[in-house]
Amino acid sequence: MSNLKRLAVLTSGGDAPGMNAATRAVVRSGLGHGFEVFGVQHGYTGLIKGDFRPLGARDVGGIVHLGGTMLGTTRCEELRTERGCANALGQLRTHQISVLVVIGGNGSQTGARELQQRGATVVGVASTIDNDLHGTEVTIGTTTAIDVALEAIDRLRVTAASLKRAFLVEVMGRLSGHIALTAGIAGGAECIVIPEVETTPEAVAQQLRDAYARGKSHAIAVVAEGAKYNAEALARHFQEHGERIGFDLRVTRLGHIQRGGTPGVYDRMLGTRLGAAAADAAAEGRSGIVLGIRAGEVASTALEEVAGKQKAADVSLLELARVLAM
Ligand code: F6P
Repeated sequence: MSNLKRLAVLTSGGDAPGMNAATRAVVRSGLGHGFEVFGVQHGYTGLIKGDFRPLGARDVGGIVHLGGTMLGTTRCEELRTERGCANALGQLRTHQISVLVVIGGNGSQTGARELQQRGATVVGVASTIDNDLHGTEVTIGTTTAIDVALEAIDRLRVTAASLKRAFLVEVMGRLSGHIALTAGIAGGAECIVIPEVETTPEAVAQQLRDAYARGKSHAIAVVAEGAKYNAEALARHFQEHGERIGFDLRVTRLGHIQRGGTPGVYDRMLGTRLGAAAADAAAEGRSGIVLGIRAGEVASTALEEVAGKQKAADVSLLELARVLAM
């Protein structure tokens, strides 16, 4: 048995572009700090099963530009149980892991908190396309996901304008409106619907009707999937109530296409900075934290403050969107 301290890294929850950059940085910086580094395959499911493999510098070569996650990921219900937690802790002990790095979003960091509370040493890295984690202004993957949504919106506007149509474009984000707000404003949407601000189908119809009345050749409504009325529900309501909006209406749900993008420079750098910072924290004996970004700098927040909470989107942007849609 080696005398080196052992660090393990896993990715968990929804994959996010830039997770690979983070994994690579954890591994290479961890090796630089003198750790023996292991990858846990398939998130917490792999942790519970003991699915570890040693990772050297070459094992994480050729991945920085790839979306998804080379380690695989899962949404692991078992970790929510006492037995699942106990098994995960047992595997960490058996493999003599001194620090576990968890790259993931809300549910993943809640799992990390559970393990930390039961005696494990855990460092979290904020990664989710939803950008809904407390303690960080931005999470790994959100910028690339928004760029993908934006490209789709730009394309939809071209066809919408040609045929004088309206589109309801549904974007991801779980219960956060961050993706919808950002992609909507950057994409020049006529209407944005987010979970944080309740609206009615009548109000959405009115906004589209107004765009028609103002002489627009198209109208785009960007709708967050977590809103009370998602794109499908809105379209159904318009149809059932004979709501006239002037334009012919089409619905596009972008779904997982937003997650599979090639990480842009921002997410590669963010993944790299946060991954390296996680290895630094491990080497310095800091744990029970999630690493993110505040005022452009790497910042840590206690797992306790992150777990089970949700950062709301900046709803003041909705007013800006309204003004700009004139
Ligand atoms: O959390 C990331 C995310 O892509 C959300 O935006 C979305 O609601 C969810 O994951 C989809 O989950 P799944 O990939 O399990 O269908």
